[in-house]
Amino acid sequence: MATIIDGKTISASVIEAVTAASAALEQDTGVKPGLAVIIVGDDPASHAYVGAKGRMAKQCGFHSVQHTLPEETTQEDLLKLVAELNADASIHGVLVQLPLPKHFDSEAVIQSILPEKDVDGLHVVNAGKLATGDLETGLISCTPAGSMLLVRTVHGADLSGLNAVVIGRSNLFGKPMGQLLLNANATVTMAHSRTKDLAGICRTADILVAAVGRPEMVKADWVKPGATVIDVGINRVPAPEKGEGKTKLVGDVAYAEASAVAGAITPVPGGVGPMTIAMLMANTVIAAAMALGRPRPKF
Ligand code: GUN
Repeated sequence: MATIIDGKTISASVIEAVTAASAALEQDTGVKPGLAVIIVGDDPASHAYVGAKGRMAKQCGFHSVQHTLPEETTQEDLLKLVAELNADASIHGVLVQLPLPKHFDSEAVIQSILPEKDVDGLHVVNAGKLATGDLETGLISCTPAGSMLLVRTVHGADLSGLNAVVIGRSNLFGKPMGQLLLNANATVTMAHSRTKDLAGICRTADILVAAVGRPEMVKADWVKPGATVIDVGINRVPAPEKGEGKTKLVGDVAYAEASAVAGAITPVPGGVGPMTIAMLMANTVIAAAMALGRPRPKF
């Protein structure tokens, strides 16, 4: 049986380190890290995520602000709010919760956030720094950064000689994850919906990362015996065994069968999920430290 990679415990230790870094920064400078989260519309799942981000920010000792805007907000009004937060010295991180309602040009909104306040790591300046191997001056997208921390608990920081396969090529996850693995000296294959013999490619992986959004797509016979499996999927599926109309969360990996073959595996929920929010807190204290001319904390 595989070792279970416990994202709850690992994220809790990140939060502890972030809280300590925040307290030290405040003691040195008199300034708390400031995080502003903007949410537009009333999607219940997005409100739940944003509420959790605000609570965690307070727990870390941050100055935490939430801007809740109505569905009918215009692009111009949203850009104006981002510009105000860009100019606000008490705010070091600005996050616009995605997805935005359909009438917005999301890309233009994301690119309007100052790169040094882009705690989601989605600005082209931050994406470009990662792509050119600069991991020291930019901000890295939270879910890949958190997934990398999980990989490091199994393999350490140097992945020389290991084959990594990432399934999924999104800007939010797949591309930055591939770049982080490459930066750590893994030999990286980026697989996606047009890949031929996906199962065969996955079987070459010492580190297999699945981010496809298809419930339990990765089967046991896609997994090389002893491999490390990182499951980034969060899919809600019917669970009639729990009662009529009930649902449950599953990943992109068929966990029960894959964990009989893998060496280490992340569960869903409780694997990658808790790391995303922890790395958002880490990015906020990093952004604050850099804005205040202090050494960049490491997590
Ligand atoms: N919605 C779901 N995940 C994310 C995320 O990581 N960042 C933002 N801004 N919105 C999201």
